[in-house]
Amino acid sequence: SLKTPTSALFIFGDSIVDAGTNNHIKSVANFKADYHPYGQNGFFNGPTGRFSDGRVLVDFIAELANIPAIPPFLQPSAKFINGANFASAGAGILSETNQGLVINLETQIKQFEELQKSLQEELGETEVKALISKAVYLISIGTNDYLHGYTFNPNMQETFSVEDYVGMVTGNLSQAIQDLYDRGARKFGVLDLMPLGCMPSLRALNPNTKNGSCFEEVSEIAKAHNRALLATLIIQQHIYKGFKYVHSNFFEWMDKRIHFPSEYGFRDAVNACCGKGAFRGINSCGRMKKEDDYEVCEDSNENLWWDSVHVSEKVHEQLALELWTATPSLPGSYNFKDLFSDFQNLRVEDVIVHEQSDLGFVSAT
Ligand SMILES: *[C@@H]1O[C@H](CO)[C@@H](O)[C@H](O)[C@H]1NC(C)=O
Ligand SMILES: *[C@@H]1O[C@H](CO)[C@@H](O)[C@H](O)[C@H]1NC(C)=O
Repeated sequence: SLKTPTSALFIFGDSIVDAGTNNHIKSVANFKADYHPYGQNGFFNGPTGRFSDGRVLVDFIAELANIPAIPPFLQPSAKFINGANFASAGAGILSETNQGLVINLETQIKQFEELQKSLQEELGETEVKALISKAVYLISIGTNDYLHGYTFNPNMQETFSVEDYVGMVTGNLSQAIQDLYDRGARKFGVLDLMPLGCMPSLRALNPNTKNGSCFEEVSEIAKAHNRALLATLIIQQHIYKGFKYVHSNFFEWMDKRIHFPSEYGFRDAVNACCGKGAFRGINSCGRMKKEDDYEVCEDSNENLWWDSVHVSEKVHEQLALELWTATPSLPGSYNFKDLFSDFQNLRVEDVIVHEQSDLGFVSAT
């Protein structure tokens, strides 16, 4: 029978981790990156559907895990023995977010179940059970729920307070994690949200200041989401046997790069490399036929932001290294290297019973 060399990697989410899913669906230009200058930095031959000048986070994670790049589930005749990528640019946790233009999280999980069944037919139940429980589940989603789904959606803002909306979004995310756990998944890397208000497009839209500061109200929503997500992961780790997770703290990690770019090798953390208008915050990168409808910076390695809402390859690479090596900060949490290492280095937390007092931390956050 086939032996899997290391853990497989299953990817769920939006454009941060989409590696070409949306090339295979009907959508709009906003949610596609299969045209120049996406992918222009020379690593690939041209555009691949990744929302970057080159590679994205999951390409680097696969490389660190010593497995081949993970193909989109929708890529015809791809092999999924090392995992599959279900992420779809523009996708939300809520099915209402960009409905009809993207593959939402619930559908991504249905596709995973479909794949699980077909792998069982191919490899047998025992083999697939081991593959599924050893695999790492990387989930990076939520930005679109808060931007398209809420900040730019007056109807939703009238219907739900920020608090209730965050509760609904994170409630559905928690449900998705539980669904995967019920299918046999054990090792989760769930990314939190970055300071959304500092994206070039949000800086340009910030109505409160004309001086280019971040749109703090939007970043505050991301913070609320992150608090609720962390509380969920801590609770799930307490309740579900064998549940392991990475706590990413993507927000603070990005915030440091936004405020002190030169310390991390960036020259510009305000303007997008590709786009037009203030901060190149208008999302026209590659969209139009005419050259003067968008500008591209000379060296995308110098910019934190590749386009008005997406970071450059260099950020993806730095983030992958951080997730791979970071010292876990919470009881029962891991880094990606631990998750992929197949339980060879069991941590103390795996064998001790957690004290009730740990839960006090949850309500304190
Ligand atoms: C999930 O989202 C839907 C709206 O799409 C909402 O009606 C439902 O209450 C949410 N579920 C949870 C568990 O929060
Ligand atoms: C922009 O304006 C805000 C409030 O008006 C202020 O707090 C902030 O320091 C200003 N930022 C810059 C870069 O001038």
